Amino acid sequence: MHRTADAMVAAVRREVADLVDVAARDGELDWDAYARTWWRMVRQLVLGTSARDDEALTDDLHVLRATANWAFLHPARRARRDRFLEAVRRRIAFAEPGSLAASMPFAHVTGRTEPEQQVPQWLFAFDAAAWASYRALALLASHPDALARAREEIAGRDLSVTQDLPYLRAVVLESLRLWPTTPALLRETTAPTRWEGRRVPEDTLVLTYAPYFHRDDERLEEADRFAPELWTGPRTEADWPLVPFSAGPAECPGRNLVLHVTSTVLALLVDASGEDGPRLVGRHPLDPDAALPGTLDPFSLRFALGPAGD
Ligand code: HEM
Repeated sequence: MHRTADAMVAAVRREVADLVDVAARDGELDWDAYARTWWRMVRQLVLGTSARDDEALTDDLHVLRATANWAFLHPARRARRDRFLEAVRRRIAFAEPGSLAASMPFAHVTGRTEPEQQVPQWLFAFDAAAWASYRALALLASHPDALARAREEIAGRDLSVTQDLPYLRAVVLESLRLWPTTPALLRETTAPTRWEGRRVPEDTLVLTYAPYFHRDDERLEEADRFAPELWTGPRTEADWPLVPFSAGPAECPGRNLVLHVTSTVLALLVDASGEDGPRLVGRHPLDPDAALPGTLDPFSLRFALGPAGD
């Protein structure tokens, strides 16, 4: 658990409670409402409660990211970038207790480091967690046994304080195994090496394509079905590699934080949905008796949270 876990749970609870009210008012939960809640929550976790409504800051980040892959062709958005980084610097200087940014003034700084450059990644990397948790909710909603296990896990727990929820964490890991948000892991060899009997020279780019490993139905019996049990026991080197957060020294340092936040969000949504929910509504491609699709568009998923027949 992160040292700010309690402050995080408080922010997550407030925002999920608002989201449940919005879903009750609208008759369903859709992606737009989920994403709005998500970013309010992320701004608080990363920058502090006072940043909850600072949409201008994350809007700037979204615009900068939208052209990122075209950076070599697109004219640089210097003014927007400066404005965004200045806003981040102001938030870091404020160092609101309970936020991730509060740790920044203590970062070890040398002539070659720019600590505030880390914060954009903390913010944008939470985007993947929105997709993963929303798809995880769809998996729960379409797999009654898993939903029953999730209900068992939260039964009798006080969700107003930090809870370790291994089954719901496994559900999120499954969402990421089935639909990895970082499909390509990149490395460069630092010395000549031999691999599978061939010589690989120094500076060779190595690409690990996660979906290839995650869905290999010759090596993994569970490849195309929802199988949280893959993650509920310890995984060892001998197991077939599953790498939604990568592995080794560059494994995602946000892994536990993400799993804590997303499992808490799922617990609160399942808890608020009562006996009948959450249920997927409208057209959706998740059939627990068929192979799960290779991709899943989160934007079109909609849920009913209240009792059936409402
Ligand atoms: C579902 C959400 C997320 C997923 C699936 C994910 C996955 C990954 C993956 C696959 C990498 C690449 C590692 C490699 O090159 O092998 C990575 C790197 C990284 N992630 Fe995440 N991440 C998520 C969210 C986050 C969050 C919320 C944070 C911070 C608050 C974060 C911080 C980082 C950092 C700092 C790195 C760079 C590590 C390095 O270069 O050493 N991630 N993440």
